[in-house]
Amino acid sequence: MSKRYEGKVVVVTGAAQGLGRALALGYAREGATLGLVDVKADGLAETKVLAEGLGATVETFVGDLSQEATVEALGAEVLARFPLIDVLYNNAGAAYGEVNTPIDQVSWDKFQFFLGLNTLSPLFLARALRPALKAAAKVRGSCVINQSSMASYQPAVVYGVTKSALNQLTWGMARMFGADGIRVNAVAPGLMETEASASSLGAERQEAIRALQMLPGEGSPEDIVNLGLFLGSDDARFITAEVMHCDAGHPFRAWRQ
Ligand SMILES: NC(=O)c1ccc[n+]([C@@H]2O[C@H](COP(=O)([O-])OP(=O)(O)OC[C@H]3O[C@@H](n4cnc5c(N)ncnc54)[C@H](O)[C@@H]3O)[C@@H](O)[C@H]2O)c1
Repeated sequence: MSKRYEGKVVVVTGAAQGLGRALALGYAREGATLGLVDVKADGLAETKVLAEGLGATVETFVGDLSQEATVEALGAEVLARFPLIDVLYNNAGAAYGEVNTPIDQVSWDKFQFFLGLNTLSPLFLARALRPALKAAAKVRGSCVINQSSMASYQPAVVYGVTKSALNQLTWGMARMFGADGIRVNAVAPGLMETEASASSLGAERQEAIRALQMLPGEGSPEDIVNLGLFLGSDDARFITAEVMHCDAGHPFRAWRQ
């Protein structure tokens, strides 16, 4: 097993379950020290125990990333603990059953909630942690990875709009953070087997989505872990401003409505 992250610090948001937990454990397996953020204290504590079992040093930070004040407070807490950060993986995000809600049927408050969590928190957390990312960039390279979605190509649904805006932010952040040597990329997963995708889509809709893939089969969290490990490592040192798809060639990518 390679240890690409020995001596490196990786911060993962939304690490209490699903893709975030899988990512945290993937970075732990390769030697990273972890800063894990989530609103769910119990799940976060479980992830910490699992990562420590893999030999990682782990700090947890509990807070709500949908609110400006808590994003700022979390940023200050993480920065105080980690003066150098090699990877910020902005994975936290949600659809909470609103994955298909059309933009003409969503309330202002709900739209604002999803924009806050899925779109603004990655930007504002990265801004808060920029000094630590810059410090790491000077000595060994650093990067931000934003968790987008294949739904970012569905601009008529609320979840898709928030992820589409995240792609735009990724390109903008890559330009601005690049001045400090910090790479910024996004990962756009297709349908991955997690608790959230099962509960928000249901079996029938999942089957319909899979039927459109170019490749058969189910996406696993490990597919995203492998991409995250590559993108955060020196192997990707010349890659920035990319949205990398991991979706078995799903045609949502070509869908404009
Ligand atoms: N699973 C998929 O098929 C899929 C596909 C495309 C994109 N994604 C994206 O990947 C990410 C993870 O998805 P998942 O399937 O693991 O979801 P999940 O719901 O299992 O995990 C999301 C994590 O984010 C945390 N979170 C939610 N709201 C939060 C808040 N307000 N503050 C802090 N933390 C909060 C949750 O507690 C949870 O631990 C999300 O950004 C999602 O949009 C998932």
